Amino acid sequence: MKLYHNPASPYVRKVRVLAFETGLSDGIELANVTLSPTGPDAGVCSDNPVGKIPTLARDDGGALYDSRVICEYLDSLHDGTRIFPEGGEARWTAVRRQALADGILDAAVVTRYETFLRPEALRWSDWVDGQMAKVRRSLDALEQDSLGDGVDIGTISVACALGYLDFRYPDEGWRNGRPKLGAWFEKFSQRPSMQATRPD
Ligand code: BEZ
Repeated sequence: MKLYHNPASPYVRKVRVLAFETGLSDGIELANVTLSPTGPDAGVCSDNPVGKIPTLARDDGGALYDSRVICEYLDSLHDGTRIFPEGGEARWTAVRRQALADGILDAAVVTRYETFLRPEALRWSDWVDGQMAKVRRSLDALEQDSLGDGVDIGTISVACALGYLDFRYPDEGWRNGRPKLGAWFEKFSQRPSMQATRPD
């Protein structure tokens, strides 16, 4: 299996953390690519018409994308404890947290493009403020959540979202006023899967 990869991508990081946690990491070849909304990668586009990473090119089947689909696929390949809880309320909690964390990422990544890539004269500050308000509201909701010690698709996604904020938004100070979330992340970040996939 070949995973189109860039170490800065928090969506790729989700996949890689899951692969480490499930013992699948050694079977995944990383193909490093650099792309942006205005500069797609031909190899990625040949496997994924949307042109986004992560994209997983399988040896014995078609390519899979996006991070949610790849994570679910990889979780079907191992015999250990499922990263996607199989049923009951635990599943809905985990996939809801994944949606919340991916929502933080979607807003943070498009804001990164807007404030870093887009020509200054074309930037729209109200739009940026709206995206960052989504991030802050979602962080407030996570502060009220009880994330616990478990490792599932929800907690992996939340950790990757917080790691991205540290990486690209060091001045945001997301820990301020959110001590529970900061303490949870401190502990989760020590996991070898998180250490091995740090973007910096
Ligand atoms: C980044 O450089 O921030 C980035 C790279 C790939 C995907 C998303 C974000």
